[in-house]
Amino acid sequence: MNIFATIEEVRAACRAAKREGKRLGLVPTMGALHDGHLSLVRAARASCDVVAASIFVNPAQFGPNEDLAKYPRSFERDCAQLEKEKVDLLFAPAVEEVYPPGAVTWVTVEELSEKLDGRSRPGHFRGVTTVVAKLFHIIEPDAAFFGQKDAAQVAIVRRMARDLNLPVEIVVCPIVREADGLAMSSRNAYLDPRQRMQALVLHRSLMRAQSLFDQGERNAAKLIAAAREEFAAENLARLDYFEIVNPDTLDPVEDVSDGALVAVAAGIGTTRLIDNILLVNSGH
Ligand code: PAF
Repeated sequence: MNIFATIEEVRAACRAAKREGKRLGLVPTMGALHDGHLSLVRAARASCDVVAASIFVNPAQFGPNEDLAKYPRSFERDCAQLEKEKVDLLFAPAVEEVYPPGAVTWVTVEELSEKLDGRSRPGHFRGVTTVVAKLFHIIEPDAAFFGQKDAAQVAIVRRMARDLNLPVEIVVCPIVREADGLAMSSRNAYLDPRQRMQALVLHRSLMRAQSLFDQGERNAAKLIAAAREEFAAENLARLDYFEIVNPDTLDPVEDVSDGALVAVAAGIGTTRLIDNILLVNSGH
């Protein structure tokens, strides 16, 4: 695996691959890799000739009181895992390489960026779309791979690619879970054993909605009310939102007959976790 820290070098390597007619896949990450990330790498490996990954803890997507300084960093371990998955190129730039001093230009997907996590994390999605647009311009991938765990991010990145006519296919891979249902996340590393147990309430609340849906309930308010009961019983978890929305517009839906995204965010101690499921009407 070739590791590049500068835009000039990684761009030259990616362009050389594309000149040879190779299909180039990009897996953008912030490092602290887990099996969820590796599933994206495997999907890229399976459908692309050349696989590029990036590791960049993007300051622009962290709020002033968020966990940028303590965000888990494990560069050596990450590199070993990417090598093992046969990643060809790794782009791991410094902050100054990505954000030239005095940069004031942003990519914002309006409206969508204020929904779900965007409501409690102002500016977060502007930071995500700006860095993802930069990565697309630097790497020029044919396909880019994202995890369904960040469902709002998926909707917003897809919308950005569409609205800006970016020539990149956005591929979304399913959530990877621990054996007990907890969605894999780099932030799970912050949880102590007690919080790790409490964190299961997110998945439990989603399963409650899923099981009512499977029994035929189509009223979103009823699914939400039942799911919220799980949080009432777990008083150390602070529910941020539990919403049932259209997966593309992120607008709330009242009736889930045509399927919907069920998304939850909650604080466990000082750790903010998110999770979601897609309700799919198998009768259709
Ligand atoms: O999902 C993430 O890890 C980040 O939001 C991303 C897409 C790498 C942008 O910094």
